[in-house]
Amino acid sequence: MSVAAPDKLGDSLITVEHLTMRFGGLVAIDDVSFQGANREITAIIGPNGAGKTTLFNCLTGFYKPTVGRLTLHHPRKGDFLLERMEGYQIPQRAGVARTFQNIRLFPAMSVLENLIVAQHNALMRASGYSVAGLLGLRGYRQAERQAVELARFWMDRTGLTDRADIDAGNLPYGDQRRLEIARAMCTNPVLLCLDEPAAGLNPRESSDLNALLRYIRDEHSIGILLIEHDMSVVMEISDHIIVLDYGRRIAAGTPEEIRNNPDVIRAYLGENEDEPLPPEVVRDMEEER
Ligand SMILES: Nc1ncnc2c1ncn2[C@@H]1O[C@H](COP(=O)(O)OP(=O)(O)OP(=O)(O)O)[C@@H](O)[C@H]1O
Ligand SMILES: [Mg+2]
Repeated sequence: MSVAAPDKLGDSLITVEHLTMRFGGLVAIDDVSFQGANREITAIIGPNGAGKTTLFNCLTGFYKPTVGRLTLHHPRKGDFLLERMEGYQIPQRAGVARTFQNIRLFPAMSVLENLIVAQHNALMRASGYSVAGLLGLRGYRQAERQAVELARFWMDRTGLTDRADIDAGNLPYGDQRRLEIARAMCTNPVLLCLDEPAAGLNPRESSDLNALLRYIRDEHSIGILLIEHDMSVVMEISDHIIVLDYGRRIAAGTPEEIRNNPDVIRAYLGENEDEPLPPEVVRDMEEER
């Protein structure tokens, strides 16, 4: 199987080759290949039902691809073939973390507890998987302190410090979205996959999100895959954009190239120009032009 030519220079972090995902007769992803680089934000965009979330579900082990190879090039540990790994091993061993289109926090746990639970694996390792370890080992107590420190760090970065004790389910929507990102970052990922992190945010929150994602990319030197309909976010912070339509990759390039790509405009506007304009995303795209 030959790899599609890299879409750009840079340290490749994730290589998707010929990914196909079928559900019965429905082809949700159809022979998609692309690369995402380290220290870059790669946006995955496309109309509703294009296959974006399905792509994340394949990358994070929720689905086993029908065909295809998904290689995570870990900067320190070497290559992982994600399609061959159990879902639970993917965040732990390969360092791939994600957030969900429909927020999935532990609503009855506080902000701080959500961030500590995310570090369960590291804490269990430090316990030696024994009760004695939990109760007595110095290593465990140290790991516990580090877990709280990391949680504090990300609460601070996401502006949630003064809400540490509030149950996640009682937070305003924008705070829940940021808590999901903080929780993913508490697993120390090398690849962060965000499924519509700007959905439901107001313009101010959306601009704060841009700053947070840039900070994560630049200061933590990891790669980000970003599914997003909000073009003000996509066009402003993406280094590279992949466009899916009906499960197929129809374009790839810089924000500038994508903005002017006729296939992309057609996919968003539809073939029939007399039809009423579709969602906000199209208006944003047109304004950008
Ligand atoms: N578990 C599943 N079983 C059957 N069909 C599915 C399943 N998951 C997704 N699909 C179908 O695959 C296609 C792609 O869905 P997907 O959720 O990946 O789209 P999307 O690009 O994330 O859309 P949106 O922008 O609306 O979130 C859709 O037709 C969807 O109905
Ligand atoms: Mg989706």
